[in-house]
Amino acid sequence: MLDKQSPIGIIDSGIGGYSVARRMQRLLPHEDFLYLGDGANTPYGNHSAPEILSMTRRLLRFMEVRRVKALVIACNTISCVAEQLSGALECPVLNVLHSGAQAAARLELEQVGVISTCFTAQSGCYGERIRRLSPNTQVISRGCPDLAELIERYIDQPGGEVLIDRAIQESLAGLEEVRHLLLACTHYPLAEDRFRRLYPDRVWIDPAEELAACVKHFLAENNLLNPSPGLGHMEICTTGSARDYARKAEKAGLRQITCVRHLAV
Ligand code: DGL
Repeated sequence: MLDKQSPIGIIDSGIGGYSVARRMQRLLPHEDFLYLGDGANTPYGNHSAPEILSMTRRLLRFMEVRRVKALVIACNTISCVAEQLSGALECPVLNVLHSGAQAAARLELEQVGVISTCFTAQSGCYGERIRRLSPNTQVISRGCPDLAELIERYIDQPGGEVLIDRAIQESLAGLEEVRHLLLACTHYPLAEDRFRRLYPDRVWIDPAEELAACVKHFLAENNLLNPSPGLGHMEICTTGSARDYARKAEKAGLRQITCVRHLAV
């Protein structure tokens, strides 16, 4: 039996899921959240499917023990292999793929760029889903080998913008004609100001808003919304550095953080 007052779990390979968590806090202010970022193993995006699955199973076991009422796979890379994880948890599991594809498809564009980790790009997941929803949209996928890791490490470091800007420019080389781009890696919206400053004429699509709305709808439909009147809390766990995660959570705009702790999964 799922408990309405249990937290909603959010997993990501690292801090990227903060871009989803902050949207969820805004849209679902009475919910408690339990965030787990695999700081010790990030980035996932240059790994193989079996490696990503094995790292993710450890995250799921933690969420199972903590009895979350729903799990949100914020990470696009993990979401690409999510079907192979079905049945691993008793609670419902939602992932970002459908929301990301929906956010892009709704615009009924002639062309959309999808920038992501190499794994997500090679999986073809977004291309297939966007075309299913909007058959006339041409999807151009681009895998960016280092961008997520640079954002994870340097987003709040002095001089980090220079490294991040360079990686963004390298990632977008050759996509000059593509006006709409889907940020199909949770880390990228954390550097959205950099994207906007470098390319003010582009339209950046962040799947987080759509995903948060989808989670809210799901909870409401299944009578799982937390009835508590007060503001919910955010607990953050990481296999990496708790201090680092706490600092970056604040920068990302998360609030009501009750604790940030290191976890040996
Ligand atoms: N943030 C993750 C995503 O959404 C991947 C980053 C990584 O670990 O490579 O795909």
